[in-house]
Amino acid sequence: MTFEKENDAYWMPFTPNRAFKKNPRILDSSLGMYYTTTEGQKILDGCAGLWCVNAGHGNKKINEAIKTQVDRMTYSPSFQAGHKLAFELAERLANLMPDDLNHVFFTNSGSESVDTALKIARAYQKARGKPEKIKLIGRERGYHGVNFGGLSVGGIMPNRQAFGPLLPEVDHLPHTHDLAKNAFSKGQPEHGVDKADRLLDLIALHGANTIAAVIVEPMAGSAGVLVPPKGYLERLRKICTDNDILLIFDEVITAFGRMGDSSAAAHFNIQPDMMTMAKGLTNGAVPMGAVMVSDKLHGALMNGPENMIELFHGYTYSGHPLACAAGIASLDVYAEEGLFERAARLAPYWQKAIHSLRRHDCILDIRNIGLVGAIELKPIEGKPSVRAFDAYLKAFQAGLLIRTTADIIALSPPLIITEQQIDTIVNILDDILAKA
Ligand SMILES: Cc1ncc(COP(=O)(O)O)c(C=O)c1O
Repeated sequence: MTFEKENDAYWMPFTPNRAFKKNPRILDSSLGMYYTTTEGQKILDGCAGLWCVNAGHGNKKINEAIKTQVDRMTYSPSFQAGHKLAFELAERLANLMPDDLNHVFFTNSGSESVDTALKIARAYQKARGKPEKIKLIGRERGYHGVNFGGLSVGGIMPNRQAFGPLLPEVDHLPHTHDLAKNAFSKGQPEHGVDKADRLLDLIALHGANTIAAVIVEPMAGSAGVLVPPKGYLERLRKICTDNDILLIFDEVITAFGRMGDSSAAAHFNIQPDMMTMAKGLTNGAVPMGAVMVSDKLHGALMNGPENMIELFHGYTYSGHPLACAAGIASLDVYAEEGLFERAARLAPYWQKAIHSLRRHDCILDIRNIGLVGAIELKPIEGKPSVRAFDAYLKAFQAGLLIRTTADIIALSPPLIITEQQIDTIVNILDDILAKA
């Protein structure tokens, strides 16, 4: 595809637009593990689109469910009216996700899910007579989307820098990445449980009576796959419980199989008070997000006169019929094809394969959990990000889609990947890293 003047109209997200348009990479179709470009090149998908196409591309069952719903009803308001699929999907999610996360608020993206969860946290504290509990605690290197709430609790500097002032009454925990102690960890790193104790410092500083909630990604994806150290999430849960602070897991990436389980909460056996999700919820086929809320929180907000709206919040497209149809079909596919179990089964093979790249001098760290991996490269002096982005371009040329953040290569393939395709990913990267 050649870029003419008119192609300048599209302002692409998280993309250096001018550079891209000089050297465009245009995807035209997709099926299974592969994209095909407009030039006819097949590209193996090493990152499930953007961590979302967990059942692979063009899944027939999901496509059929969307097509059927297109002919029945493409839009229904969800304020003061409803449609069956939204109730059905909510019920299915409540059954799938851990313990008492039994209530679902639908949104259209991960960012909206995060802002919704933060608002519910504050509304809950007000509803139970603790209006002074308003502070929101995020974490350095956290990614919680791009809306003002998510940006404020998020901890990725370039995402925040141009948009301040962000929300007041926010503070951050330290991130858990410790290359000196944990480089080349397989699965959860040994060191770093103490990083959770920094929450005690924030409690000492602000007072638990001012803190509404802590939000973390159980595994930080976008900042470069930061796997939680052993005991860290358990410790965070305990400190939150002891101090009457809500714990929100942002599972926009980790829910729906990425960890080899329905969620990171299930994988680590830790119960958050709320869980945000999106991405794999519809296999990326129709935009949708959701917040799963515990019985305790939901119950506290279901007070007051029955004819009154309990939460003044919602989106025109909350519970959109096409998204619900895609969501229900995705859950069916995940169950029928046993994809969460498949991810768990493949995880040891995946681990061994990506750690085999360790011999390259340009590598600082390799880490993994479930069907996620990261290869952290030594930055070229004075040129941060250049080495990884060069690897991205070379991988694309060689027929592999990866994701890079700063000098970190992140990998998170669809859960339908085969061992042979894992080998292909590793072989392509091996070649590139040998020359990096
Ligand atoms: C943990 C997490 N939260 C929120 C988001 C934002 O999701 P969206 O891009 O759908 O708004 C993302 C996106 O990558 C994410 O990884």
